[in-house]
Amino acid sequence: MVKAIAIITVSDSCFKDNSKDKSGPALFDFITEKYPEANVHTIIVPDEKEIIERELKYFCNSNIDLILTTGGTGLSPRDVTPEATRAVIQKEVPAITTAMTIESLKKTPMAMLSRAVAGIKDRTLIINFPGSEKAVTECIHVVKGVLSHAISLINNELVEVRSIHDKMQVDHLCPHKMNSKVDISKVALRPRESPYPMLEMSEAFNIVDAVMLQWEECIENIPIENAVGKVVAQEIIAKEPMPPFPASVKDGYACLSLDGAGVRKVRAAISAGENNFTRLGPGECARVNTGAPLPLGADCVVQVEDTKLIKASSDNQTELEIEVLVAPQAHQDVRAIGFDIPIGAILAEKGDVIDAAQIGMLAGAGYQSIPVIAVPKVAIMSTGNELQEPSEKILRPSHIRDSNRIMLKALLKEHGYDCIDCGIARDDPTELAAAIAHALPRTDVLVCTGGVSMGDRDLLKPVLINDFGATIHFGRVRMKPGKPSTFATCQYEGKIKYIFALPGNPVSAYVCCLLLVLRALRGCTRHCGDFARLSVRLSHDVPLDARPEYARAVLRFPAAPDLPHAALLGNQCSSRLLSACGASVLLELPPASDSLKQLDAGTTVSALITGRIDLTRL
Ligand SMILES: *[C@@H]1O[C@H](CO)[C@@H](O)[C@H](O)[C@H]1NC(C)=O
Ligand SMILES: *[C@@H]1O[C@H](CO)[C@@H](O)[C@H](O)[C@H]1NC(C)=O
Repeated sequence: MVKAIAIITVSDSCFKDNSKDKSGPALFDFITEKYPEANVHTIIVPDEKEIIERELKYFCNSNIDLILTTGGTGLSPRDVTPEATRAVIQKEVPAITTAMTIESLKKTPMAMLSRAVAGIKDRTLIINFPGSEKAVTECIHVVKGVLSHAISLINNELVEVRSIHDKMQVDHLCPHKMNSKVDISKVALRPRESPYPMLEMSEAFNIVDAVMLQWEECIENIPIENAVGKVVAQEIIAKEPMPPFPASVKDGYACLSLDGAGVRKVRAAISAGENNFTRLGPGECARVNTGAPLPLGADCVVQVEDTKLIKASSDNQTELEIEVLVAPQAHQDVRAIGFDIPIGAILAEKGDVIDAAQIGMLAGAGYQSIPVIAVPKVAIMSTGNELQEPSEKILRPSHIRDSNRIMLKALLKEHGYDCIDCGIARDDPTELAAAIAHALPRTDVLVCTGGVSMGDRDLLKPVLINDFGATIHFGRVRMKPGKPSTFATCQYEGKIKYIFALPGNPVSAYVCCLLLVLRALRGCTRHCGDFARLSVRLSHDVPLDARPEYARAVLRFPAAPDLPHAALLGNQCSSRLLSACGASVLLELPPASDSLKQLDAGTTVSALITGRIDLTRL
């Protein structure tokens, strides 16, 4: 029986932008239809042999029956899926790919250029498929008839050694195939109140800041085109002057200022990018375009508007003499060598956050890569038995689509951080522990959502403590939304791992990611995780909650000199993500007190600038 299947999309571009992955979902649809009972894992990896190999081995060691890869089988230099597969399999099954090739050749001779491999590692069958959605669909139909049979053959053959093998794997190969120590059988004995003290926001912030100080800063060189939002690690100095030659600022004539006004002989014509080693003498000039180098001898440029034609060649193709109408000053309309950036000037200071203009300047100065402070690796995981992948066509009864992972990924991206996707973990201690153990080696910071409230299936804290020896730095914060926000660290394979367990409600996850996770990440590179604050005026009455509240709001900018006006985005209930769509700021609303139950329209409040200020939304 086919119980567990993994689908690996291998593609640099899909890895950067999951929405580009069409072949993975095509395989997923096919597989979930053919094997509705099977557990299907999907991941996207870049075209990196080591990563592909590692994922294949991981799945082979995780009792996966069948691994289908798509992509990376062609001839381009980055295509290495077959090499990674060969490094993992013990036996090749070449006829599988031969069958696919024969079928594909009927459609296109390009099928000759696929190098797909199929083979077996222990009890796992691995098949490479091409990368295009069309080719994948064709090829899966070629092999579908033999998959189940192949897998049962693989299993029968190994039936005797299997028990020994399983044990070995549990003990050595796959340390995270452990059984969780968390016992959930006695629901009646669960605590009725959270054992975690309720911290004030300021305490939670201080703890995040203090714990993240353990992050060991390291420097990496990255291409400047990937550097936007990164923090410069060392001062960067101009190695060349800009401009590297005296350049004309205008279209006109390069002249000698000593000649004053009057008629000049036009000796040369120089456009931008051209060299002319003519040396001008007294009474001579050279026609120059904007950006062109000045010829030797010239010390100024007279714009064409301040000249008159005196004599042209008989065919009118060349100017022979012109008159300079206004006596020029030395250096007029000339950018001297190093005028924009002298050699040795500081192009970027340590701690600068790189923006588009700085990238342009670095490129202009001849830098292809720069040293930046490495950002921690981030992984995102959802937990919950009710969750389905957003890509699944049919929503099963009592299920919902998981919106948190994709949202948090995008939110991190908006703020300049990439992350890897660790999928959905089920609310079962052993499965949750396995999912965490799978995620931790790949990341520095693990962000989970769900499983942190008071339900009997809220297992994250117990699993972290009992199975990973984690220290819970806080487990409850006086904030709305996000009360059960949890921050923990543990040692894993000799390294410290930072774990944020955020509530599963989408708005809570959104707000807590901004306030806690981004604070931690920004703190690691910028030494200050805080967002900038702005004073704003409420445009309507706002009732206060018993907890300090972070309300999502848009800003309007009045014409008169006044503070920006802030309007809350609809019903602020924590499951209602509409209340965060288009939010530019989080308003820091104080808790209600006996004397203060609401803030009236016009009250000034503090706003954290956490989003874009988008005037088209007003
Ligand atoms: C410079 O310009 C003059 C006049 O247009 C031309 O005769 C000469 O060949 C040019 N020299 C070079 C090196 O291009
Ligand atoms: C050159 O320009 C002058 C003045 O506009 C004109 O009289 C003459 O015919 C032109 N010559 C040619 C060859 O185009």
